[in-house]
Amino acid sequence: MDSILSVRNVSKVYRSGGRTLDVLQAISLEVEAASTVSIVGPSGSGKTTLLGLCAGLDRATSGSIVLNGTTLDELSEDERAYVRNQSVGFVFQNFQLLPTLTALENVMVPLELRGDRNSRTIAMTLLDKVGLADRGHHYPVQLSGGEQQRVSIARAFSNSPKILFADEPTGNLDAETGETIENLLFELNRDAGTTLVLVTHDLELASKTQRIIRMKGGRIIAP
Ligand SMILES: Nc1ncnc2c1ncn2[C@@H]1O[C@H](COP(=O)(O)OP(=O)(O)O)[C@@H](O)[C@H]1O
Ligand SMILES: [Mg+2]
Repeated sequence: MDSILSVRNVSKVYRSGGRTLDVLQAISLEVEAASTVSIVGPSGSGKTTLLGLCAGLDRATSGSIVLNGTTLDELSEDERAYVRNQSVGFVFQNFQLLPTLTALENVMVPLELRGDRNSRTIAMTLLDKVGLADRGHHYPVQLSGGEQQRVSIARAFSNSPKILFADEPTGNLDAETGETIENLLFELNRDAGTTLVLVTHDLELASKTQRIIRMKGGRIIAP
């Protein structure tokens, strides 16, 4: 199997106020390039934490993660940011758009970081793709939750990621908007071969991915 993500015996421990919390324990998994995977499990089971480690947003306490050929374990924050910008898209549960930038500027950020000269044109095309061509000049507060989610998806697509992580991408959306977002994600997988790793509560969405990983209490309970 051509693996784009390899997680080996990873743990994550949070320490606060003299107490330790074992959030992830002995997690191992392989994700095949160009495949679609969903991660399901009860709230608090460690799904968001795992997604963040896989995407290089945070560091594991122990174990090893190889993402698109790069071992993340010993990388500095700046080096991880570079890896993310080169090959990773991330859709956050709460969008995480920059409030002082317009929708268009939010989508342009990853492109500007890469030094892309056509960032504005590419960002416009992506906003159009998510049905927001006419909202580019709006700030996040002027957009509904569903619209902000679509901007965050356009941003996640902007660097043509090899792998896209999405944390409950349809969680706060009405059925119709949720379906639009779902279609965009699967289209990206089909047309560009982008690997999709989705965290979701929606079992119907999960059933559309090639593989479902179940988590409970910081562990994978079924491959
Ligand atoms: N930064 C943090 N510091 C301390 N505990 C955290 C932190 N982030 C998450 N946790 C805890 O880790 C556990 C798993 O959280 P999370 O990964 O968000 O689960 P899920 O996404 O499955 O709901 C929860 O008990 C949560 O409170
Ligand atoms: Mg979560």
